[in-house]
Amino acid sequence: MAASYFLVLLLFLSLGPHRALSAAGASPYLYPATFFKNYERMLTSFKIFIYTPNNPIAFTAPPASLFYDSLLRSRFVTADADEAHLFFVPFSPDASTRSLARLVRELRGNFPYWNRTLGADHFFVHPTGFDFTADRNVLELKKNSVQISVFPTTSGYFIPHKDVTLPPVSPRALTLPHAPPGEEPPSFLGYLRWDGETESVMVNELKLDDEFAVESQPSDDLGGGGGVQSSKFCLFLYGADVAWLPAAMASGCVPVIIVDRPIQDLPLMDVLRWSEMAILVGSTRGAAGLKELLRGVKEEDYERMRGLCVAAAQHFLWNAEAKPYDAFHMLIYQLWLRRHTIRYARREM
Ligand SMILES: *[C@@H]1O[C@H](CO)[C@@H](O)[C@H](O)[C@H]1NC(C)=O
Repeated sequence: MAASYFLVLLLFLSLGPHRALSAAGASPYLYPATFFKNYERMLTSFKIFIYTPNNPIAFTAPPASLFYDSLLRSRFVTADADEAHLFFVPFSPDASTRSLARLVRELRGNFPYWNRTLGADHFFVHPTGFDFTADRNVLELKKNSVQISVFPTTSGYFIPHKDVTLPPVSPRALTLPHAPPGEEPPSFLGYLRWDGETESVMVNELKLDDEFAVESQPSDDLGGGGGVQSSKFCLFLYGADVAWLPAAMASGCVPVIIVDRPIQDLPLMDVLRWSEMAILVGSTRGAAGLKELLRGVKEEDYERMRGLCVAAAQHFLWNAEAKPYDAFHMLIYQLWLRRHTIRYARREM
């Protein structure tokens, strides 16, 4: 009797925390129980060693330039390579394969750090990402080191689980007022800012459907347009105009990403619960299929997604001076998650 009571208690105790976690399913984080603690540990412990570049480095466009400048000024940089968790290899985005090969050869020969992991505890910034090459040195950099590129990154230029993407810089302010729930229902099911160029059968269908607002030649100003505020879902053609994705999320317009292949380069992919915040859909079923899918989203599910989008949007915000939990710090956090590499000591005989 006592034993079975004990068993039940044990069962309850062991189920308890898991239940609490799934009840907190309304968290935008994949690991809500450890995220904040781990972030704080990162602030106090994380150390990055930066190799001195051969030439002056020019990242001309944000977000790569913002990330680079913030990193150089940050508390994470150390001059003592022996205490570093990760090593940053700076080079200009237009560096040729040849000069990259030379760079890696120099790191390999002049420092003891590359050989310990063959570059796995190294990272670099390359706005578009680059392809596999035949050069052994550059291939090692590509395959082993963490690549930081801008979202979205060409398929094949991005290696899932290893590489990370920088959230795009939003053209305008991230905080747009969205009608609070219960007030006027949104006038449109979906809103699409179309660049006017990307050819798409689906866009042509959407333009003819009055449940969708398609704005071609949109201005950078989201506030006046009203499409975001008056629509339930914000549609994105993957690869075309994604810069305002964070702005849409901040204003509570649930993103629908239209893409015909699996994508694994979403920003903060290993921190945020994207599956609860965005809908990924192929274009083959056309506007009618999309409409059916979006209409089928239950109201309570929609409200939860909307809340998570708003909660997560702060993490996509770029600041000239980095602020806690902003895009810069979240990038650093993803690097922090990648610090556990095995370093092989070179056997001296
Ligand atoms: C790293 O290994 C290569 C051989 O793979 C060797 O030529 C080079 O000298 C090593 N680097 C250091 C710093 O020992």
